[in-house]
Amino acid sequence: MIKLTYLGHACFTLEDEKHKIIFDPFLSGNPLAKRSSEDIKVEAVLVSHGHGDHLGDAINIAKSNNAVIIAPFELAMYCQKKGANVHPMHIGGSYNFDFGRVKLTIAHHGSAVVDEQITYTGNPCGFVVSFSGKNVYHSGDTGLFSDMKLIGQMNRLDVALIPIGDNFTMGVEDAVKAVEFLKPKLVIPMHFDTFDVIKQDPQVFAKKLKGSKSKVKILKIGESYNP
Ligand code: NI
Ligand code: MN
Repeated sequence: MIKLTYLGHACFTLEDEKHKIIFDPFLSGNPLAKRSSEDIKVEAVLVSHGHGDHLGDAINIAKSNNAVIIAPFELAMYCQKKGANVHPMHIGGSYNFDFGRVKLTIAHHGSAVVDEQITYTGNPCGFVVSFSGKNVYHSGDTGLFSDMKLIGQMNRLDVALIPIGDNFTMGVEDAVKAVEFLKPKLVIPMHFDTFDVIKQDPQVFAKKLKGSKSKVKILKIGESYNP
């Protein structure tokens, strides 16, 4: 049995009896987050792109857990320079880790670390993770793209985690179309409400998918689900 826990924004943990990984751990900077990054225990940190609301606490979590950061090459190199263990990958590539198989997918977005300067960190990505017999798609930040059809055709998706917040990513309308393309058994909306510009009512998304074969589960921050 797998357990998926929503930690807010685009951050989820995925675990079974033996393994635990985290996606896009934006905790200390997230006004809505309920968990501190210090009590996160994981073996891998998957980071979709360099923006602060995704890279977040990744480097600290990786260091304190002796965990590996799995990210697109340029972002992985950035994290390595900051002292983290990394496993660089790139779009279209997959790799078998102890916890399961990870494949990087395209995402239409940007990727940079912005502090005193702007450090570009290559292309952003999404992930298809095969974990404990289930296929979980985390799209990262992205606009709608028709190759989502291909992702849905080539992977029997048990769960799709997709943004609905609009402004920086797909909004509700496009996310509904994404579900049509991906055909996941279950879809969980993410990347909304954290900031004013991405305020969104997830119930509107759920309503629009009534009658779809894909079930919608809206997770509260801190809530877990066994897909
Ligand atoms: Ni972003
Ligand atoms: Mn974002």
